[in-house]
Amino acid sequence: MMMEDFEKVLFTPEQIAEKVRAMGEQIASDYEGREILMVGILKGASVFMTDLARSIHLPVAFDFMIVSSYGAGTDSSGQVTIRKDMDTDIRGRHVIICEDIIDSGITMKRLLEILRERQPASLALCALLSKPSRRVAEVAIDYCGWEVPDEFIVGYGLDYAERYRNIPAIGVLKRSVYS
Ligand code: IMP
Ligand code: MG
Repeated sequence: MMMEDFEKVLFTPEQIAEKVRAMGEQIASDYEGREILMVGILKGASVFMTDLARSIHLPVAFDFMIVSSYGAGTDSSGQVTIRKDMDTDIRGRHVIICEDIIDSGITMKRLLEILRERQPASLALCALLSKPSRRVAEVAIDYCGWEVPDEFIVGYGLDYAERYRNIPAIGVLKRSVYS
């Protein structure tokens, strides 16, 4: 089983479900009367976003972007490129960006700058996980699930070399797998 590559489990499927439900309720109460456009950053946010959107009892439109993250390594490159843009014109829309994890923050800081220029009515950031000790670029996370230590984390959408995304738990990957 792939879970043999886990050094430890950080969050069980039950803990994740409870957290995602609470985040969804908070978003629903904050956005009452508005229509949300949720933009997931592929591929990592895909699992989280589909669960999160189903816990928000308001209309939620979906779109997706692919933003550069080079190679199969565990460190984020400083370069940020939009590899697939969303289809929606976000001018005047209430946009929530959905991300799996904010690590250095480099990708998200630049992406938020680009999206703000498109003049959405509002722009919020929702991330399931954050590694504050790794932050290089300052980004405000409006909805954050958990802060995690500086370790390589996989599962529930997060990958290492495209593996482990479909594990329903979140855990720390054994160092021996990637070093
Ligand atoms: P940042 O620009 O350094 O914040 O990188 C953000 C992206 O790097 C995330 O969207 C993830 O795809 C990836 N990433 C950062 N840390 C991890 C991790 O611990 N496990 C899996 N992917 C990660
Ligand atoms: Mg990613």
